[in-house]
Amino acid sequence: MENYCNQIWPLIYDDHNQGRHQDELAFYSKECSTYSGHVLEIACGTGMILLPLLKQGVDIYGFDISDQMLQQLFAKAESESIPGVHSRISRQNMIDFQIDLKFDLIFIPARSFLHLQSQDDQLACLRNIHRHLSDSGRFILNFFTPNLPLLLTCTDPNPDYKHFDRYHHPDGKRMIDLSNRRTIDLTEQVQHITWRFEIGEKFYESPMTVNWIYKKEFELLAKFSGFTISNLYSGFDKSSYNGDGEMVWELKKACPSQ
Ligand SMILES: C[S@@+](CC[C@H](N)C(=O)[O-])C[C@H]1O[C@@H](n2cnc3c(N)ncnc32)[C@H](O)[C@@H]1O
Repeated sequence: MENYCNQIWPLIYDDHNQGRHQDELAFYSKECSTYSGHVLEIACGTGMILLPLLKQGVDIYGFDISDQMLQQLFAKAESESIPGVHSRISRQNMIDFQIDLKFDLIFIPARSFLHLQSQDDQLACLRNIHRHLSDSGRFILNFFTPNLPLLLTCTDPNPDYKHFDRYHHPDGKRMIDLSNRRTIDLTEQVQHITWRFEIGEKFYESPMTVNWIYKKEFELLAKFSGFTISNLYSGFDKSSYNGDGEMVWELKKACPSQ
């Protein structure tokens, strides 16, 4: 599964995500400020959230499955002279990651949990997070509320590419045009997205899968992994959940001694 494991995503990822980034960063930054212990960001990508938090003095660690995204994180850290990054960041899979620390806050922003394909992988990930969380720790993650009418607009099995946006190549000369096409598998609750990057005469294609998860489904996943749900919000301003928008989940251990 390619997702973000390719050479081009890291070049445009930060520009592509500027829109959603500010609210999400402000939210996680505020959450981190209530803790003095270790913090872990799962699937930290190019460090859009992790690096600003590290600069603020948060004792944060992170990992990601994509070597290419992490190389971009290291390059940004070097250009901004942020020290100590290599000892805090590793390349790991959220299903079976191992870090020899207990964390007071673990979070998965940017809907990255939805890249996990099977229920076994989702449970393995949640149980592993449970093992890495301190007894009084919290686990926060966010992903979208499935909007079935919107998903059903992607039932065409062979759709055309839709142009998304145009970004500057880091070489300062070329532009990168980004398009995508989406199909859905209603039975498996998964969107198959093919991203297409055009640079001059050349183009590259890269597949991505994004599952969707319903509220009651995640409640069950959390319960089976030893968590209780402390809060569920609609969006990053902590409004009570109204069945719409971004689901922001806050979990704690059901039995802290386990
Ligand atoms: C939407 S990006 C989020 C990056 C970053 N957290 C941010 O806020 O910008 C999703 C990230 O999840 C990572 N990812 C996908 N599956 C993963 C897995 N099984 N284990 C670890 N990272 C994974 C991808 O490589 C990618 O960097």
